[in-house]
Amino acid sequence: MIVLVFVMVCGVYICSICLKQINTSTNTGLLTVQMIEKPCPEPTIEQWEIPYVHYPKPKTYSRAECACNPVRNFAILSMQRSGSGWFETLLNNHTNISSNGEIFSVKVRRSNISTIVETLDTIYNLDWFSSASKNECTAAVGLKWMLNQGLMQHHEEIVEYFKTRGVAAIFLFRRNLLRRMISVLANSYDRDAKPLNGTHKSHVHSPHEAEILAKYKPKINATLLIANLKQVEETTAKALEYFKSTRHIILYYEDVVKNRTKLIDVQDLLKVPRKDLKSRQVKIHKGSLSSQIENWDDVQKTLKGTPYESFLHADYRRRRRRRRR
Ligand SMILES: *[C@@H]1O[C@H](CO)[C@@H](O)[C@H](O)[C@H]1NC(C)=O
Ligand SMILES: *[C@@H]1O[C@H](CO)[C@@H](O)[C@H](O)[C@H]1NC(C)=O
Ligand SMILES: *[C@@H]1O[C@H](CO)[C@@H](O)[C@H](O)[C@H]1NC(C)=O
Ligand SMILES: *[C@@H]1O[C@H](CO)[C@@H](O)[C@H](O)[C@H]1NC(C)=O
Ligand SMILES: *[C@@H]1O[C@H](CO)[C@@H](O)[C@H](O)[C@H]1NC(C)=O
Ligand SMILES: *[C@@H]1O[C@H](CO)[C@@H](O)[C@H](O)[C@H]1NC(C)=O
Ligand SMILES: *[C@@H]1O[C@H](CO)[C@@H](O)[C@H](O)[C@H]1NC(C)=O
Repeated sequence: MIVLVFVMVCGVYICSICLKQINTSTNTGLLTVQMIEKPCPEPTIEQWEIPYVHYPKPKTYSRAECACNPVRNFAILSMQRSGSGWFETLLNNHTNISSNGEIFSVKVRRSNISTIVETLDTIYNLDWFSSASKNECTAAVGLKWMLNQGLMQHHEEIVEYFKTRGVAAIFLFRRNLLRRMISVLANSYDRDAKPLNGTHKSHVHSPHEAEILAKYKPKINATLLIANLKQVEETTAKALEYFKSTRHIILYYEDVVKNRTKLIDVQDLLKVPRKDLKSRQVKIHKGSLSSQIENWDDVQKTLKGTPYESFLHADYRRRRRRRRR
């Protein structure tokens, strides 16, 4: 009797396990196939680096023979007229880097945190197409993001996203905020006046065009000058504070111009092979500031004796004199 009961219990038990297995194997059939599909060898990296390495599977195409090339995510965080356009063309000169431009300049994409996350997901999954998209062997993918494009507003969620998705932040700021202000004013003048055959250009590729754009000398409102400079400084400090817990690097435009070792630092951060990077962009405003501002005397008087006085004199040149042709 005992043996019979034992056999019956065993039978029922085995049956139930069988049923369960049939169920799970039919449910997860797709999943297991995908797991088998990805036999990428473990990359030889340090333990702490693992969160920063990704193997995206784009929905729209196959990464083909590069499917096992790890990809790192980055974001250039900057402010308008701080050299980030130029910096991005340098990064995009690398065969393995795709920086997709100022994606959040389009308002709907930054209208709330869900649209932001959705956009970022598309970029980091290599499904975003722009002129910067490279072939399947992209090893670093990112975008350029201005602080006033939803970044400060949604900073908490974005920091969280950066941490979970292993996004490295590349801060690019300008030291001389007075020069930046001239560039902002000149650029907004150009948007209306369009001296280059009626087209608005924020960046130019020939000395001739640069010369035309540099002809305009903005007049700076001396009353608001100090307050404006202070506000930019505060925004920068706040951004650094918000994002200090993410993996990041801080660069200054002037330093990158003077010292190309900074570009090596960036390539090392993104773990791409080191290359000599080139940009075709030509600087618009060069030379001393006194020749670039209409009311130079006012500006000089206003800044004398303030912490910003050094902006009046500071200049920067690349050591070797072949910065731009
Ligand atoms: C088997 O799967 C169905 C639906 O897929 C589910 O409703 C059912 O509870 C599962 N049975 C077991 C034993 O897991
Ligand atoms: C990088 O710049 C050089 C010089 O302008 C150019 O010849 C080369 O094709 C560029 N490479 C890429 C990947 O854009
Ligand atoms: C976010 O914005 C998009 C586009 O403006 C809108 O369709 C969507 O409903 C918004 N989502 C939330 C949660 O507000
Ligand atoms: C960079 O791109 C080249 C050619 O597109 C590819 O052969 C190489 O594996 C890539 N390097 C990395 C680190 O992904
Ligand atoms: C503007 O027009 C002049 C001739 O009128 C031409 O030489 C020049 O290439 C044009 N520049 C651009 C940016 O279209
Ligand atoms: C500077 O800005 C203030 C405040 O907007 C304005 O009242 C003043 O007229 C401006 N000064 C000049 C010279 O434009
Ligand atoms: C250039 O930058 C590197 C680090 O990015 C630094 O170690 C080096 O001292 C700098 N060189 C000069 C001349 O400032």
